[in-house]
Amino acid sequence: MTASLQIDEHGRLRHLLTTEGLPRDLIQRILDTAETFVPTPGAPSKKVPLLRGKTVFNLFFENSTRTRTTFELAAKRLSADVINMDVAHSSKSKGEDDLDTLYTLQAMGADIFAIRHPDNGAAARFAAHAAPHVAIVNAGDGSHAHPTQGLLDVFTIRQHRPDFDSLKVAIVGDVRHSRVAHSTIHALRTLGTTDIRVVGPEQFLPDNADRLGVTATSDTAAGLDRADVVMGLRIQRERIEGDALAGVADYHSQFGLTADNLAFASSEALVMHPGPINRGVEINADIAYGKQSVILDQVRNGIAVRMAVMAIIAGNRNQAGSGSGDV
Ligand code: CP
Repeated sequence: MTASLQIDEHGRLRHLLTTEGLPRDLIQRILDTAETFVPTPGAPSKKVPLLRGKTVFNLFFENSTRTRTTFELAAKRLSADVINMDVAHSSKSKGEDDLDTLYTLQAMGADIFAIRHPDNGAAARFAAHAAPHVAIVNAGDGSHAHPTQGLLDVFTIRQHRPDFDSLKVAIVGDVRHSRVAHSTIHALRTLGTTDIRVVGPEQFLPDNADRLGVTATSDTAAGLDRADVVMGLRIQRERIEGDALAGVADYHSQFGLTADNLAFASSEALVMHPGPINRGVEINADIAYGKQSVILDQVRNGIAVRMAVMAIIAGNRNQAGSGSGDV
């Protein structure tokens, strides 16, 4: 359902809901397009007219620092008009259904929605009800998917380690409740990475590791062994009932990205984290901002990758409507 919603009958990206099943050539096209949007260090950022006359709504039913802001920057650099809906102060508080909010904003002329929602599958639900000219980009739905984060993660990895086939990747922390982990794993698998380990206490390991194509372990030394990429994840407490760390002794020293644990990985391993980081829990600040870290590159690359996704979708919409406008 989700895969068929996001690709149109001509194989073009219609909405972006998940990286699961996203064709390899389409992922590569998004990454290659994003490359063209990466600004030269120190140079002023340039605007391009690819979304001129379009309106992008950021509709976030959950909090965000990185994703919402970089969608806004991306849309502005594509010359779109951008509206950041303040959902906390919207008419949702008066009982308005989410779909009625969608229809209302569509009536104002929305072309693209970047939607974050606490419910798994919410982005697909919006896409199934969106008007034909309107595109939905999933900015994170529950623990299901965060496709632009997955794409910016593989984009960041590609800048340093372009050979995905030979990569050893360790994802450490609360993988079970992480939409980022799911989206990054699907993107990595599609690009050819076969050695992906997920590492954490039992309650944070996914119960579908085989289907995801990853190795799950609570043995940090084995999980990080000679890894080329080590990605830490926050404990998603908002999606966990009760004591998230029940039965886990000293989570930070066992599973945190500390100097001791990173010593199991390659000495040149990239340190990644989607943010927000919780210092002293899943990562130390000196590691987060240390020489192996590409965490702020991930943030920066979010702009270029989100520009690429919205430019490709808008180009496809133009093509469907007028036979031109591809990016
Ligand atoms: N990585 C990420 O989704 O961060 P935000 O919640 O700050 O958007």
